[in-house]
Amino acid sequence: MMQTASGSAGRFAGRVVVVTGAGSGIGREMARRFLGEGARVVAADLDPAGVPKGADAQALDVTDGAAFAQAIDAAVDRHGRLDVLCNNAGIGSTRDVIETTAQEWERVFAVNVTGTFNGIRHALPHMLAARRGAIVNTASIAGMVGLRDRAAYCASKGAVIALTKQVAVQYAASGVRCNCLCPGTVDSPWVGALLDAAADPQAARAALVARQPAGRLGRPEEVAEAALYLASDAAAFVTGSEFVIDGGLTAA
Ligand SMILES: NC(=O)c1ccc[n+]([C@@H]2O[C@H](COP(=O)([O-])OP(=O)(O)OC[C@H]3O[C@@H](n4cnc5c(N)ncnc54)[C@H](O)[C@@H]3O)[C@@H](O)[C@H]2O)c1
Repeated sequence: MMQTASGSAGRFAGRVVVVTGAGSGIGREMARRFLGEGARVVAADLDPAGVPKGADAQALDVTDGAAFAQAIDAAVDRHGRLDVLCNNAGIGSTRDVIETTAQEWERVFAVNVTGTFNGIRHALPHMLAARRGAIVNTASIAGMVGLRDRAAYCASKGAVIALTKQVAVQYAASGVRCNCLCPGTVDSPWVGALLDAAADPQAARAALVARQPAGRLGRPEEVAEAALYLASDAAAFVTGSEFVIDGGLTAA
């Protein structure tokens, strides 16, 4: 194990990691944990105010391909390499297919799918040149099963899973791995806001918990831990996987 600049050992000492959506919830926790394992972390978000202390805060809209390319190139210029990209920024939508407007559909796809495409596209040349790299996309169980009133969201996360597999196969022999996380319901600020907006937030939370075989919602740090595993050398033979972290929800 390598030593970090501060002298402590870490699984990611000397590694450079870019995390999107790092200002809140799951992405923030990923950035925090990568930092804790010795990585240099570029923490990108539309609103970088919330990124963890110690990370390089980067304002970025992942839908903007040119800005994403610049952010990746700047990370490589500054830190000399790029080892891990976590395409985690994402937005939800809570409508069935009839009620989903074209504008909402396009926005959800722009952030969740095009944002992921932009990141992969601009990170890959650096990783291929180094013949090593790990990409971890935050998909969702919503891309694996149909969830009520989540038409655009389910479709977008299904696309993230499919893109993950395509990239994994394309570059498996080139030293670059690509996996995705499929979290179930995770108690992030996003889910908190959804529940707060319900007519009866307590009942809405109880209903979410009731459908969980594990009897509770997931925690952002539990998803982050899976991201660290997939990004680590311990997962050297893992590529193209849908890593489910859902307390048993989709197994039921
Ligand atoms: N919370 C859950 O239950 C859950 C379950 C499965 C998957 N996910 C996925 O996990 C990821 C993170 O979700 P979270 O629950 O932590 O949500 P969150 O809302 O707490 O955090 C998402 C972050 O992404 C940022 N973001 C949004 N649009 C962006 C853009 N265009 N460019 C850059 N940053 C942008 C936001 O500013 C925010 O800081 C998302 O991809 C989401 O789909 C969440």
